Amino acid sequence: VAGSMSKSELLGFEAIPTSTADTVSVPAGYKADVLVSWGDPIFANAPAFSQQNNADAQAQQFGDNNDGMTFFPLANDRALLAVNNEYINDEYLFTHSGENISADDARKSQAAHGVSLVELKKVDGRWVVNPQGRLNRRITAYTEMAMTGPAASHSLLKTAADPSGQKILGTFNNCANGETPWGTYLTCEENFNGYFASEKTVTLGKTYQRYGISDSDWGYDWYKHDERFDVAKHPNEPHRFGWVVEIDPMDPNSTPKKRSALGRFKHENAALTVNDDGHVVVYMGDDERGEHLYKFVSEGKYDPSKGRANRDLLENGTLYVAKFTGSDDELKGQGEWLELTFGKNGLTPENGFPDQASVLIFAREAATQVGATTMDRPEWVAVHADNKHVFCTLTNNKHRGVKDSQPLNAANPRTKNPYGHIIRWAPTQGDHTQATFEWDIFVMAGHPEKQSGLMAGTDNINKDNMFNSPDGIGFDRAGRLWIQTDGDYSNEGDFAGMGNNQMLCADTQTGEIRRFLTGPTSCEITGLTFTPDSRTMFVGVQHPGAHFPAGGDGIPRSSVIMITKDDGGVIGT
Ligand code: FEO
Ligand code: CA
Ligand code: CA
Ligand code: CA
Repeated sequence: VAGSMSKSELLGFEAIPTSTADTVSVPAGYKADVLVSWGDPIFANAPAFSQQNNADAQAQQFGDNNDGMTFFPLANDRALLAVNNEYINDEYLFTHSGENISADDARKSQAAHGVSLVELKKVDGRWVVNPQGRLNRRITAYTEMAMTGPAASHSLLKTAADPSGQKILGTFNNCANGETPWGTYLTCEENFNGYFASEKTVTLGKTYQRYGISDSDWGYDWYKHDERFDVAKHPNEPHRFGWVVEIDPMDPNSTPKKRSALGRFKHENAALTVNDDGHVVVYMGDDERGEHLYKFVSEGKYDPSKGRANRDLLENGTLYVAKFTGSDDELKGQGEWLELTFGKNGLTPENGFPDQASVLIFAREAATQVGATTMDRPEWVAVHADNKHVFCTLTNNKHRGVKDSQPLNAANPRTKNPYGHIIRWAPTQGDHTQATFEWDIFVMAGHPEKQSGLMAGTDNINKDNMFNSPDGIGFDRAGRLWIQTDGDYSNEGDFAGMGNNQMLCADTQTGEIRRFLTGPTSCEITGLTFTPDSRTMFVGVQHPGAHFPAGGDGIPRSSVIMITKDDGGVIGT
């Protein structure tokens, strides 16, 4: 395709080279400023950032490791930015690197997780944080929320502290996001397994193993001070995480709602679209090697004239999982959505599914039961502005073609897939509720200088736009596809010439991809949202590893970056 690739009319900026510098770079004519960083005060009387801050301070400050985010306009000069705070880094959160954490340390860690809702105001034409904003809110790992939908009140969700099975404390490992046409924010719980552990050595059954839950956590040590994270003592607590949570950002007193109808897995984002017939459709990736890609279709229909009366459309509906098949042509084929409904497709008591709640709580096992395709870590999904094409990043998968359970398949055709790819599908007749679709691979990242065949990448990859591990993606209003990376930034060997993690911009009509932004040392670039006029773009720098953004000997702090064009124009033109 490369030779015939016509020059994109959508992409108006000069591509930038790779970088290994500890800074953010953008094209000539653009500017990138830090809007807000981990630990910045977001309430009027909140203390300033210091590594010595305690739990109470952190609960009034911007959370750590910002990821997915959504810009909600309030007026021309007022807005609310909802931002996920995925996780923490012990070595930066504490002065003592997280050794032998105290009860206050554990609470501080929990307070650095969740979601930050931050009002912005325009001062001299530029957006700044407004600590006086009445919608400012922190949602943390201990904020009370409600379980809704078919799994609410199920025995698998009941705990000693919550015999109702519908009152859950907190959300954490909030990876990416989504938003609804009725004005709510969706935050997605990803690697929740990493927070459960036990003082005792215990062997947990296969429904735990499938989600990576064991008696050792990923080092957070919450179980030492908050008993509900001791999985031996409270084995149902892990069932209460791994969900999509819906938040009403316009009511700081509202109770966030976990939406069980969307299934329990390691959620990346929630790409919501309204089908032509009014059904609300949500596409969702489960980011783990060999896991699956899902679709939810609401039972009810969206009616724009009903406003907030649409607000419970995610409470009930049908969940599906994708099966991809190949064709005579390489890198394209057909697909089918397999229904995950109790009593259908072998989801029966004999196979371990006594009811619909079990199907949803153990969605991964249900997906295996119905014969879903194992994927190369499905991360973000994005629906094109035409509402007829959907894209998903398959970030990488070192197990592909290596583990017997993850053989090569048409949609995941590369052994170990070190560079990742972006798959695209078109629902039959442009109808997102249809059971079938056609797919192709929009881009296979690779290294055309060092590799050959599939490892070189598709024709739209060249020495000037190489990258690896596509992760965050999103379309702007004009239909530009923004691609963010979370990959190998060694700039050596198979990744030589790729530099730090970055953001690129693609014209999905012509296939052209240009590098727009390079991030600081060791970071990943993740999270994107725009103002309605597309003249300010917000982008996340997560887990920088040197001294960004302060420089000098400052400790690194994850930050939201604000990109503007010097001539005030639309970003990307
Ligand atoms: Fe939180 Fe799969 O990235
Ligand atoms: Ca990600
Ligand atoms: Ca990733
Ligand atoms: Ca991340």
